[in-house]
Amino acid sequence: MAVIAPTRVAPNAGRRRALALVSTGALALAGLIFGAVGLRFGLPRVSWGPPSRVLAGREEAIGPGARVALGEASVALWRVEDRVAALGLVCTHLGCTVALSDDGFACPCHGSLFDGRGRVLDGPAPAGLPWLRVSRTPAGEWEVDTRAVVPEDTWLEVRS
Ligand code: FES
Repeated sequence: MAVIAPTRVAPNAGRRRALALVSTGALALAGLIFGAVGLRFGLPRVSWGPPSRVLAGREEAIGPGARVALGEASVALWRVEDRVAALGLVCTHLGCTVALSDDGFACPCHGSLFDGRGRVLDGPAPAGLPWLRVSRTPAGEWEVDTRAVVPEDTWLEVRS
């Protein structure tokens, strides 16, 4: 006949179990927090900036001979007969936005003057205004890519 000995229950078993639960929970919480912080700093913090393509109005809005400045986009559209070109309006001196003048462009910050083609007439600007790629969207609007500098005298033919 087998005799089963009575099991002894440790006097602090409940307390130990509770402490084990609390410490496991604390470790799990700390792991979650460190994981979240690691994920936050591990991911690249990239700012792509504003889009480089800006819509510059409908085709018919810029008639022959017109020069239109789009201040927020810092570009100007210029139409001569059946051709359109775009110039950047960021001054090559210190980056102010130049404004249209009677026969060209004028920088309000330090007085640089540019002719109608963006060439420097009077400094301190070290270089002329860039010519930018202009295209036509399928919806019939002009679109200027402010990051696509093209050679001077690059024109887009206007459909008739
Ligand atoms: S920023 Fe245009 S002249 Fe200085």
